[in-house]
Amino acid sequence: MTSSRRSLVKAAAGLGLVACGAGFWRAAHEGVFEVGAGPAYAPWDDWRAGLNEGPLALVRAAILAASPHNTQPWLFRVEPGAIELHADPARSLGAFDPFGRELHLGLGCALENMLRAAKVLGMAVSLELPPGRLDAGTPSGPVARLGLRQAPPEGDPLASALAERHTHRGPYDPSRQLSPETLADLPAQAADLDGVKVVVFTDPEQRAAFGAEVVGATEAIIADAAMMAASDAWARGSQSALQEHRDGTTLDAAGLSPWLVGMAKVLPLNSARASHRHWLAATREVQVRTATAFGLVVVADLYDRVLCLHAGRAWERMQLFGASRGLAMQPLNQPLERVDRDRSLGVEPAAARRLAGFTGDPALKPTFAFRAGYALQPANPSPRRPVEWVLQGA
Ligand SMILES: Cc1cc2nc3c(=O)[nH]c(=O)nc-3n(C[C@H](O)[C@H](O)[C@H](O)COP(=O)(O)O)c2cc1C
Repeated sequence: MTSSRRSLVKAAAGLGLVACGAGFWRAAHEGVFEVGAGPAYAPWDDWRAGLNEGPLALVRAAILAASPHNTQPWLFRVEPGAIELHADPARSLGAFDPFGRELHLGLGCALENMLRAAKVLGMAVSLELPPGRLDAGTPSGPVARLGLRQAPPEGDPLASALAERHTHRGPYDPSRQLSPETLADLPAQAADLDGVKVVVFTDPEQRAAFGAEVVGATEAIIADAAMMAASDAWARGSQSALQEHRDGTTLDAAGLSPWLVGMAKVLPLNSARASHRHWLAATREVQVRTATAFGLVVVADLYDRVLCLHAGRAWERMQLFGASRGLAMQPLNQPLERVDRDRSLGVEPAAARRLAGFTGDPALKPTFAFRAGYALQPANPSPRRPVEWVLQGA
């Protein structure tokens, strides 16, 4: 080899090493090797560590709840013997949730976690849910007030799953059906929640029809610039954004294979447009295609605040139940988000009309949609803001 050729090979090898090193550094920096680590994920462990903190322990449980786009739209006022749950209007999804219906479903999820935790921690709760309407301006005051007094602690399998519950967005095993017992257990979770009913369907024709609704609604949302801008504002595409905000949607929780997540983190390909395309493809090819069961939480009035809270409680309970039984679950709310959007724009309620066919009763309206099954890969946790950030007046 000539000396100039040798130098070229050396330079290329050197550049290769630098590129590898830079790639490795970027991979480490973007959390490729340590999924779910750092302060943004500490609340998942803190819940158990803070069990004897009295009412604050309930807030630790509450912040682990599901919320739309992981907005965590809650604030808590903790007093001796009482907790108030408030909406945080700054965490609204705007055009994606124009009436705050999903926001209040998320508050219902947080409320359910508090009630579960109270039971096992020996606190009896007297619950007040002041009435309110979401389509008549933002109602003021707390959405819930929990009066607390000491009581004997009770066991609760759902409370044991509080830190195990995660949204599963990856492929489910299409050959593994839910047993008839599980199909009955899911609606039974909501049996004592006034005004809320859960409908689950596995029939292939109904599944195909509902799957088409979900895919069609996803296409309509992607074509709606205002909805996508509202959604993108909560996308945490980098480790630094995720650790700084400790909320929002992340690549790790998107249900992609670890390999694809690693690539997406390291390569600068995750433009908003590309991620919208991936969302549609994942919805159609993975989430709808591999679902063996779909479900709806239905209510008589979509904009009654108390019904929204109860519907959120039903979802949180079903997911906790699922987590305790190895069942994977994911909301698929695109058709319902279109119902709100049509209403806010004052256009023909086409989405609402089509959905009415799935409830079996024209008086009952879907307010939450989901799929359930057995996941082929585990779900990763989503970030959480710490308790100190969500205490009102702190
Ligand atoms: C009202 C509501 C609507 C939601 N809609 C969707 C949805 O359409 N698609 C989805 O993948 N996740 C949806 N989610 C799940 C949230 O994105 C998820 O709870 C949040 O990112 C936190 O993650 P975790 O549930 O794994 O803790 C929804 C959750 C709630 C409470």
